[in-house]
Amino acid sequence: MMQNYETAKEILAKYKQEHLLNFYDELNNNEKEQLIQQICQIDFEQIFSLYEASKTDEVILHRNIKPLPYTIKKDLSNEELAFYSSIGESAILNGKYAVVTMAGGQGTRLGYKGPKGTFELDIKPKKSLFEILSDHLKEANEKYNIAIPWYIMTSIYNDELTKKFFEEKNYFGYPKDCIYFFKQSELPLIDLSGNLILEEPYKIKEASNGNGDVFASMYQYGILENMRQRQIDWVFFSGVDNVILEIVDPLLLGLTICHKKLVASKTLLKENVEDKDWIFARKNGKPSIIDSRYLSSEMKVAKDEKSHFLYRDINLLAHLFHLSALEKVANVSLPYHRAFKKNNFVNAEGMKQVPESPNTYKFETFIFDAFSLFDDIELLRVEKDDEFAPIKDFNGVHNPEVAKELYERKYCF
Ligand code: UTP
Repeated sequence: MMQNYETAKEILAKYKQEHLLNFYDELNNNEKEQLIQQICQIDFEQIFSLYEASKTDEVILHRNIKPLPYTIKKDLSNEELAFYSSIGESAILNGKYAVVTMAGGQGTRLGYKGPKGTFELDIKPKKSLFEILSDHLKEANEKYNIAIPWYIMTSIYNDELTKKFFEEKNYFGYPKDCIYFFKQSELPLIDLSGNLILEEPYKIKEASNGNGDVFASMYQYGILENMRQRQIDWVFFSGVDNVILEIVDPLLLGLTICHKKLVASKTLLKENVEDKDWIFARKNGKPSIIDSRYLSSEMKVAKDEKSHFLYRDINLLAHLFHLSALEKVANVSLPYHRAFKKNNFVNAEGMKQVPESPNTYKFETFIFDAFSLFDDIELLRVEKDDEFAPIKDFNGVHNPEVAKELYERKYCF
């Protein structure tokens, strides 16, 4: 242990992080060992180079941004709807479809104690977000007389609690052999002075490294192999908190198959031109989602010959990938983005502190950055009230009350 302690001290001195050992002398032997081990395992070089790189903004020239074609669901005729949906349905019926729920996020805005998927929507009877997802899948299972494999991504802080919750709830009656959990990776957080923080006197605060880690984690946990064995062709990805999203969508699947694409996404029409959003566009020739601040004022209102906006399709986190596309992405490093989040920490006096506003930088990869590895993407624009009721916080527009209202409007007659 002494030797490891010396190594840890050297590492911390190299990166000027000696404060992480401030409470070392007060720790018991187990805690001491845990902290030293963590210091030796963290890739300080990586986290500080991400931090340095995040200080400079990406430059995207307007001339390198082009629109992406999309299909508007409500403009499809009944014949078209039936045609594409029947193609999707036949793939689902043949057991070619699986669903991944990305539930590894911290949910800092909601601030709910416990995994976000265990948060209950106040409907009658109350249901957790996980149960709502399971209901959606069970409904599809009944309709198609199959059992759709359900893969759930957890993270360092919610993995055990999530699995325990499923066990306690008897998997909501979902076939247990069709549910798989896998855990994503994590990275330390950095405070405003550029330092790592302690979560406990014996523990450096780390958090999940973004939903873009889903591909690498699926590969690492043998999920891709499992899907191959199950002869899955298509995998749908969404978050844990959108209570009305159609996660088994034969229309999206049928359109994607018919148009011979490997990747697809549902979109929503951005309502307010000045809102900050992630917009679908072609960047440097590849399908991408870009921050709306990179669009010029003209681009923000540009329309095509049918008077449809060119750059108004926003991301609602509903993506479809062919298994071969996932295999391609699994070994690619996606770029990191910097987010600013609220995280508890141990202060210089050794007291736990709960900040009132964001206080830490978190480094995350985003699932949608994988789109640029492909030449094309199928986009299906759906209606907001039909498919978008995420729970993000208690005071903003995406609060539990609004989600409840939209859920009841859609499912409770
Ligand atoms: P959000 O962007 O809403 O982030 O994630 P979040 O971490 O859950 O919440 P805040 O920003 O801290 O309040 C969208 C979806 O992506 C998942 C989340 O669980 C959610 O379902 N996600 C996010 C992951 O699975 N892993 C991550 O590292 C981040």
